[in-house]
Amino acid sequence: MEEIQTKIIKVDEKNLKEDLIKLGANVIKEGGLVAFPTETVYGLGANGLNEEAIEKIFIAKGRPQDNPLILHVASVKQVESLVESIPTEAKILMERFWPGPLTMIFKRSNLIPDMITAGLDTVAIRMPNNHIALELIKTSGVPIAAPSANTSGRPSPTLASHVIEDLNGKIDMIIDGGSTGIGVESTVLDVSGDVPTILRPGGITLEDLIKVIPKVEEDLSIIKDDKNIIPKSPGQKYRHYAPKADMVVFTGEVQNIVKAINEYTDKYISQGKKVGIMATEETKDEYKKGIIISVGSRKDKKTIAHNLFNTIRLFDEKKVDIILSEGVETFEIGTAIMNRLKKASGGNIKGV
Ligand code: TXA
Ligand code: MG
Repeated sequence: MEEIQTKIIKVDEKNLKEDLIKLGANVIKEGGLVAFPTETVYGLGANGLNEEAIEKIFIAKGRPQDNPLILHVASVKQVESLVESIPTEAKILMERFWPGPLTMIFKRSNLIPDMITAGLDTVAIRMPNNHIALELIKTSGVPIAAPSANTSGRPSPTLASHVIEDLNGKIDMIIDGGSTGIGVESTVLDVSGDVPTILRPGGITLEDLIKVIPKVEEDLSIIKDDKNIIPKSPGQKYRHYAPKADMVVFTGEVQNIVKAINEYTDKYISQGKKVGIMATEETKDEYKKGIIISVGSRKDKKTIAHNLFNTIRLFDEKKVDIILSEGVETFEIGTAIMNRLKKASGGNIKGV
């Protein structure tokens, strides 16, 4: 692919400069690609109604064509022309959780290019909770199609430096708005059928949702560890978020996890391997060998979500051969964390 000059601009979310946002919006209007921060991870944005611009996203990321994109909007009004109808439950959820890390899947309207939906009859839409993102969408005047701004298969970017690492020379602009808050992607909730169904766990948890609507289901591929179940969300079927190293995730009682990781560390070191240990604040002092990085606190799992992808990238920088990671319990944001760890490790989960 031909190298292009990637313009990098710094924007302070708390002190937005209109002219800087305009620079980004002009690139979107002209059919170019702009990476921008959201409250979850960085997105790689293009005009969501321009087929040629959308195609550039797939090329820059090396993304499989059968994986549909999320449209980002800045108002509920903007959704109306993009969908067949807005179900009552979706209205309630928008009211409660937008702007925020909740993507909803609707029956699509004819306005939407086929490339966005990968030929499906549904479309994913969300309103991000980040001033830079919202102003960029408003100023562009179009819905912005944006997958996470990483090379396909790599951990999602939570810092502009991650975007630079993956996409410098391949996209027109990167808006550096600092570290993203939540750190894992939005929850993908299908509201196009009878019962709202979580297709990808994320920033808004099942526990959050059922406080607002009576019934929410989870796609079987999230609940079951069965490789024969095909996820309803195309993106969920790929290995994803993957470090360059191999990865094993240990689940069970914390003291058993620590014991197992120490044993495996000895084993791999004796085989001449460089071992990385993804520990937590509560356990990090119980490891003596290998490269130990604490990903956050078990008592505040939001810190783990926030640091997760950056920590995986750090192990790559340190060129470890294998990452031994602690697992977390699967409730609240823990469900999204374990979903990402499962994908990052290619399903290499060991119960201990
Ligand atoms: O937090 C996020 O959602 C970030 C930020 C940038 O907004 N975006 C993001 O996009 O994670 P991406 O493309 O990396 O993941 C979108 C997921 C994929 O798993 C995709 O298959 C699924 O949403 N998806 C999109 N449209 C869909 C549809 N019509 N039906 C089912 N799944 C869909
Ligand atoms: Mg992604």
